[in-house]
Amino acid sequence: MSQIVEAPVSPRPSTAERVFSGIQPSGASHLGNYLGAQANYVALQDEYDTIYAIVDWHALTSVHDGAELRQLTHDMVLDLLAVGLDPARCALIRQSDFPEHAELAWIFNTVTPVSWVERTPTYKEKRQQGLENSVGLLDYPILQAADIVIYKATRVPVGRDQAAHLELSREVVRAFNRRYGDVFPEPQPVFTDAPTVLGIDGSAKMSKSAGNTIPIFADPDEIRRLVMSMVTDPLRIKRTDPGRPEVCNVCQLHRFFGGDYLQIQDGERTARTGCVDTKGLLAERIIEFFRPMRARRAELAADPAVVEDTLAAGAARVRPIVEATMSEVRAAVGVGRVGRPR
Ligand code: AMP
Ligand code: TRP
Repeated sequence: MSQIVEAPVSPRPSTAERVFSGIQPSGASHLGNYLGAQANYVALQDEYDTIYAIVDWHALTSVHDGAELRQLTHDMVLDLLAVGLDPARCALIRQSDFPEHAELAWIFNTVTPVSWVERTPTYKEKRQQGLENSVGLLDYPILQAADIVIYKATRVPVGRDQAAHLELSREVVRAFNRRYGDVFPEPQPVFTDAPTVLGIDGSAKMSKSAGNTIPIFADPDEIRRLVMSMVTDPLRIKRTDPGRPEVCNVCQLHRFFGGDYLQIQDGERTARTGCVDTKGLLAERIIEFFRPMRARRAELAADPAVVEDTLAAGAARVRPIVEATMSEVRAAVGVGRVGRPR
C-alpha cells in the first residue's frame, strides 16, 4: 500500500493553529494535486481547525464559460469529499460565497508594490502557458493571501509550486501590519514529502492547464492509457539499456504507490525490468489505490443535494470568523460604517 497519507512533513502545525487551503475548480483532480496537497488536506483535518476552499474566483483567470465553471466547482466538491474530506471535521467552502475575500484583496492591493506581483514565478509561467495577461492574473496571489489570512490561518497545505505565493502572502501581511498594526499572523506552507509531480511528458509540472495530467478519478482504462503513454528516461532506448530511475518520472511515482519502489528502481537501473512492465505495474497500483475513492465519488454524485449542503454547512461554520476579521480590518484602515458591523 502507499505511504502517501502518512503524517505531513515540514513544520507540523500546533493544535491551536488554523489550517487553510484553496484549490481551483479548473479541471479534474490529478495525481499532482493529490500527492502534493490533497493527501495533506485529509491528514490535517483530524487534529486541526481546517478550512478548505474551492477558489472559483481564481479559476476565472483560466475558465471563461459560466456553465463550465459551475460544473467544475460542483465536481471539485465531489473530488474533495471522495478523497476523504469529512464535513464533520473540516469546513469546505466556496470562495465566491464570501465577497469579503475580494474586499480584503482590494485592501491588500493598496499595500502591495506592483513589482512584488510582477516577479512572482507563476505569473510568468502562466503567461507562457498562454493564459490571458489580465489584471486578475497579476493580482492572483494577492487574492490568495486574502483567502488565507481572512481566517488568520497560519498553516497552508499546498504543493511545492506554491512556495513563492506563500512567501508573497507573508510579505503582504508584513506590509499591512506595518501600516495598520498587528492584525494578521504570517502563514507558512505545509508540504507533503512529494516533490512537484511531473506530467505524462516527464518534463513539465503536471497541471490542468498543461493538459499533461493523470486524473485520479478517470476510468481505469483511461488511467492505463495515460500511464502507458508516460515519458520515461529519454536515454533508455533499447530494452537492454540501463535506466536512470532518478530522472524517470514513472520510477519516481512508484515511491508513492508501494513499499518495494527501491527494488523497482533497481530493476530499471540494471535493465532487469523494462519500462513497459514498470508502467503497467504503476497503472494497476494507481487504479487500486484510488478504487475506494472512485466508488465513494460515484455514490456521492448520485445525491443531488450533497454538494450544496456541504458548502452551506461549511459557510455557516466560517462566517463568524470572516465577519470578525473584517470588522477588525475595516476599523484599522478606516472604511465602512463606524461602530457596528455591516
Ligand atoms: P491547483 O490545481 O493549481 O489549484 O492546485 C491545487 C493544489 O495542488 C495546490 O496546492 C498545488 O500546489 C498542488 N499541485 C498542483 N499541481 C501539482 C503538481 N504537479 N505537483 C504537486 N502539487 C501540485
Ligand atoms: N494558488 C493556488 C493554486 O494555484 C490556489 C489557491 C488560491 C490557494 N487561494 C489559496 C492555495 C489559498 C492555498 C491557499 O494551486
